[in-house]
Amino acid sequence: MGVHMRRPIIAGNWKMYKDTGQTRAFFETFLPLIKGPKNCEVVICPPFVNLQIAADLTASTSVHIGGQNLFWAKEGAYTGEISGEMLKAAGCGWVLIAHSERRQYFGETDETANRKIVAALDAGLTPIVCVGEVLKERESGQTNLVLDKQFTGGIAPLNSEQFAKIVIAYEPVWAIGTGKTATPQIAADAHATIRTLVRKHYGNDAAENCRILYGGSVKPDNVRELMSQHDIDGALVGGASLEPVSFAAIVNYETSKLQ
Ligand code: PGA
Repeated sequence: MGVHMRRPIIAGNWKMYKDTGQTRAFFETFLPLIKGPKNCEVVICPPFVNLQIAADLTASTSVHIGGQNLFWAKEGAYTGEISGEMLKAAGCGWVLIAHSERRQYFGETDETANRKIVAALDAGLTPIVCVGEVLKERESGQTNLVLDKQFTGGIAPLNSEQFAKIVIAYEPVWAIGTGKTATPQIAADAHATIRTLVRKHYGNDAAENCRILYGGSVKPDNVRELMSQHDIDGALVGGASLEPVSFAAIVNYETSKLQ
C-alpha cells in the first residue's frame, strides 16, 4: 500500500477529577452525543476508583477506557500502587505512561517509564507514552534534544515488536492546562522530530505506522487545525475532556461545525 493509514485517536485524560457520580453523569450526556460512525478511536482515562464503573458504562459502546498510570510489578507489597493486570481486569485496554505531571510531581523518569511500558504491554494494554519539553527547554532551543533523550531512555529499549504496539503523545509542558496551545506548526515540527527518531531506531515502516498524538490545551475550536497536520494522529485532551459537550465536539471533529 502506498498510503499509510494511521487511525486517529482522541483520548481524554481526566487527571484527578470526577467522583463516581460525576463519572456516571458524564457518560449519560456524552455517549448519545458521539453516536454514529467514527473514524477515530476514543479513549477516556478516569481516576483509578472510577475505572470499573466507566468500563461498565461503556461496555456496549466503542469507547475505550484507560488508566492514568500503573506500576510494573504484577502484584506484591507495593502500597498504593496498581498493576497492569488490575487495570485490565477492571476493563481497561489502555494506559497513560509518563505524563509530564507524573514526571514533575511523582518522580517518573525515562527509566521507570520504560519499565511501565513493558509491564503494560505484558498485561495486554496499549500504552500512550508521553514526551515533551518544558518552557525553559523550548526557550533555550533544547526541544529536539529533550525529545531525543526521552525517546532514547524511555522508548528505544523496546524491541520492534513491542514498539509497534505503543502510541506516543507529544505534550509540550508549557501548553498543558495553560490555554496556550502549540501552534499547529510548532506541534507539527515536534511530531516530525519524533517520527524521525522512530525511523532512526525502528525503520521506515514503524515510522509511517506509529501514531503520535498532540496534547496541550486541545479544545473544540482548535482540534481540526491540529488534526489537519500530516504528522498529528490524534489528541490527548485534559481540561476539555471533563465536559461531555466539549469532549464530544472534539471527538466529532470531522463532522461537527466549528464552535
Ligand atoms: P490540557 O491537558 O488539555 O488541560 O492542556 C492535556 C494533558 O495534560 O494531557
